[in-house]
Amino acid sequence: MVMAEQKSEILVADDEATFRETFTKVLEEEGFAVTPVCDGREATEAILKQPYAVAILDIQMPGSDGISVLREITAVRPQTRVIMVTAYGTVEMAVEAIKLGACDYVMKPVNFDEMLTKIRQHLRFVELEAENRKLREELNERFDISHIIGATQVMKQVFETIRKVAPTRSSVLITGDSGTGKELVARAIHALSATSSGRFIPINCSAIPETLLESELFGHKRGSFTSAFEDKKGLFETARGGTLFLDEIGHMPMGCQVKLLRAVEQRQVLPVGATTPIEVNLRLIAATNRDLAKEIQEGRFREDLFYRLNVVGIHLPLLRERREDIPLLVRHFVKKCNAEMGKHCTGVSDDVMQMLVDHEWRGNIRELQNVIERAIIFAEGETLELEDIGFTRAGEAAPRPGQEDLQSLVKAYEKEQVCRALNQHDWDKTETARALGIGVSSLYRKIDELGIVNRRERARKNGP
Ligand SMILES: Nc1ncnc2c1ncn2[C@@H]1O[C@H](COP(=O)(O)OP(=O)(O)OP(=O)(O)O)[C@@H](O)[C@H]1O
Ligand SMILES: [Mg+2]
Repeated sequence: MVMAEQKSEILVADDEATFRETFTKVLEEEGFAVTPVCDGREATEAILKQPYAVAILDIQMPGSDGISVLREITAVRPQTRVIMVTAYGTVEMAVEAIKLGACDYVMKPVNFDEMLTKIRQHLRFVELEAENRKLREELNERFDISHIIGATQVMKQVFETIRKVAPTRSSVLITGDSGTGKELVARAIHALSATSSGRFIPINCSAIPETLLESELFGHKRGSFTSAFEDKKGLFETARGGTLFLDEIGHMPMGCQVKLLRAVEQRQVLPVGATTPIEVNLRLIAATNRDLAKEIQEGRFREDLFYRLNVVGIHLPLLRERREDIPLLVRHFVKKCNAEMGKHCTGVSDDVMQMLVDHEWRGNIRELQNVIERAIIFAEGETLELEDIGFTRAGEAAPRPGQEDLQSLVKAYEKEQVCRALNQHDWDKTETARALGIGVSSLYRKIDELGIVNRRERARKNGP
């Protein structure tokens, strides 16, 4: 437990000397470090001087009262857990205090055991929060901008925009085809932002039915519709102080767009069925692979919302528009897969690299990453050869627009299977044919038809 290594700091602010002194003693006996103060002014001074894990504030004190101290704490020490102590007649103020950010309240006369239990619960919470923050920091490192690969001019511009926009609060709209790295960029912006210790909450606006999307985003009150059995916090509230990533925003239904616009403009949301709005301070990043200009023209996307989200726009190019980056990406994915799978792949042969550079990459970087990953899993040698990649000669089986016919898909699959069987049986044709359930002569014909090369043989021939 934390307490054994380092005493947890607790602030006790109460003008009633007997309570203050006795309670301080009880806490010290339990191993806590306590700072007792007797009025609001002293309490404020104390919290400015150092952070406390838990602050116990009497609501009524001379000088400035507990509520003013609470405001001060939420402003300068948002991590501190505040428990209000209330006497008969100030219960309403305690409720008010909870709204302002206090975590809990207890009634006078204070039951010490009850108070100790509460303090321990809050300390546990503080501990978990700290752990969470640490995990989030580690996660941010993983999504650091240095993990986005690209050296082409257009990618350099993307990096520059990310660096410039990240520290601001401006909304960002990321556009680009599927698999071009939109989420990666969104996470990098978050990791570089001032609110990086907050959460990054992604939501896919196309995957949730319209009726649920609204309550998912803004929350709802119990009983506001048939299945609303209890209050639900919306993602806007959960992402407070962090980043909300609205993925596939181009698919968002019109009804929801109106509410989103209001949330963005007023920086507050109204949960379904609620009457008072909730303030939400967060960073918004949206992404889409749709052409929003066209969506606006055709009446499916609100123009005013577009301008609100697209304060800064980042467009990610297709992979085939930046082929010079392919070798860098290949090396990056080989390294990444090696690390993740404990493999020792050294890279790809020249033929393979040429083929990868020439390929259409309709699935963009995600497709390239998958191709490398799959090849590394099944490759026998240390260098990835054409057979491992599962392509035929220069893009032959590579699906091009409109050419993804069944025949070529079957052929590519057949080649992959035959290659694997051959490698598995050390190119022993009889064994391989038996394993595949075909005759030896059919196997020879397939090797020929499918253009399969024995790369070990070839390596020997080309060798010194
Ligand atoms: N520039 C890059 N450098 C390294 N890895 C990348 C790069 N761009 C994308 N990736 C990787 O490619 C995969 C797809 O990226 P991401 O999920 O960000 O794409 P997306 O644009 O959000 O795709 P979709 O529209 O399909 O959701 C991820 O595994 C990501 O890590
Ligand atoms: Mg995505």
